[in-house]
Amino acid sequence: MGHSNCQEWATRARAVMPFGSSTCSKSPRYLPEEPGAIVRGKGCRVWDADGREYIDFRNGLGPVTLGYCYPATDEAIRRQLEDGIVFGQPHPLETEVAEMICEVIPCAERARFLKTGGEANAACIRLARHHTGRDHVVQVGYNGWLNSLAAGGRTLPRMEATSSPPGVPRALSALHHSCGWNNAERLEGLFAEQGDQIAALVIAAGYPDMGAGKTFYPLARDLTEKHGTVLIYDEIVTGFRVALAGVQEHFGVTPDMAVFAKGVANGMPLSVYCGKAEIMEGVHEAIVSSTYGGETLSLAAAKATIETYRNEGVIDHLWRMGEKMWSACNAMYKEHGLPLEWRGYWPCPQIVAGPDAPADLHEQFLRACYANGLSFYQCNYVTFSHKEADIDEALERMENACRQLAAGV
Ligand SMILES: Cc1ncc(COP(=O)(O)O)c(C=O)c1O
Repeated sequence: MGHSNCQEWATRARAVMPFGSSTCSKSPRYLPEEPGAIVRGKGCRVWDADGREYIDFRNGLGPVTLGYCYPATDEAIRRQLEDGIVFGQPHPLETEVAEMICEVIPCAERARFLKTGGEANAACIRLARHHTGRDHVVQVGYNGWLNSLAAGGRTLPRMEATSSPPGVPRALSALHHSCGWNNAERLEGLFAEQGDQIAALVIAAGYPDMGAGKTFYPLARDLTEKHGTVLIYDEIVTGFRVALAGVQEHFGVTPDMAVFAKGVANGMPLSVYCGKAEIMEGVHEAIVSSTYGGETLSLAAAKATIETYRNEGVIDHLWRMGEKMWSACNAMYKEHGLPLEWRGYWPCPQIVAGPDAPADLHEQFLRACYANGLSFYQCNYVTFSHKEADIDEALERMENACRQLAAGV
């Protein structure tokens, strides 16, 4: 094999950064098929440092929902850049975007901004503890590294801590309790044992089995109301994707607080925490504050992104293109005898291997996809820039990948 810029970047990255990346899940695991470095994105495609092109379903791990270099958001960023990035008093954009959030998100009577999803979840947890005067927190799913505190909880979207997570004081870990998505028995047990000490229940939906929210969210709402616990939805993946206002709109069960991040600003770093006024106003005592909360380039991007969502039927497109892509893939896997299936809701399904699948099937699948110009993650996303023709082309590439994979399995 000749010289590879991707390989060289990956080697240089690992020499100076643990994981070779600041984001653990971005660390390339399947070199040389997986790109070691991405240099450009446009629409639904990315190019690596060796000039190879991929139809991309990773989308920065979720935040790119309209597409790379989407004209309306990029133009809004460019325009705002002429006027400055961050100021010592609030810019009108901060109010405008907070107003939009309060308009479109059912639970939002007040909204504020931070930069990452994990931070925004931490803010909600602090406000819930202040509001209730209690210390314990029950968490469902991954809520960001800052909040990976419970024994048995998620330390990364695909990684669980077996005991209290390394680096977390045991006394702090003891206040956090993990519960699996849709594990009604565990949730009821936790509330039966110590419901009067639980400040917050934070829920991030399980992707392959999201439909279970139909019964799990009402159960969570009942238990939290009964015990005076603040119900927080982590809508970082589901918001601006499953529905504009995420699962609270889709299932019609309104939480007390919610967090949005990926999807709100088409890749610009912005997170939103919002909720009932009486809880959010607690921030005057239980302080949450960051210099960059009102950074205007991200807010300009968010305003343009939300306007695009509202005016151009983005959610409907994500469902339609998602169904076209993932249902055709599932039919293809059956045809080729591959024990693989995309499960969950069409805008954000997860690939699941059958119980008798070879242990390395998932890895071989991803390698074959990369080798055929398809970029996937565990949870995958179509964007507003994946048009019919792109999906048709992606399916042709998938057919080639399946043929190669089936020949080797
Ligand atoms: C459901 C969920 N919650 C929280 C987070 C953390 O967000 P961030 O990485 O912006 O801190 C993520 C990130 O993958 C997520 O998927």
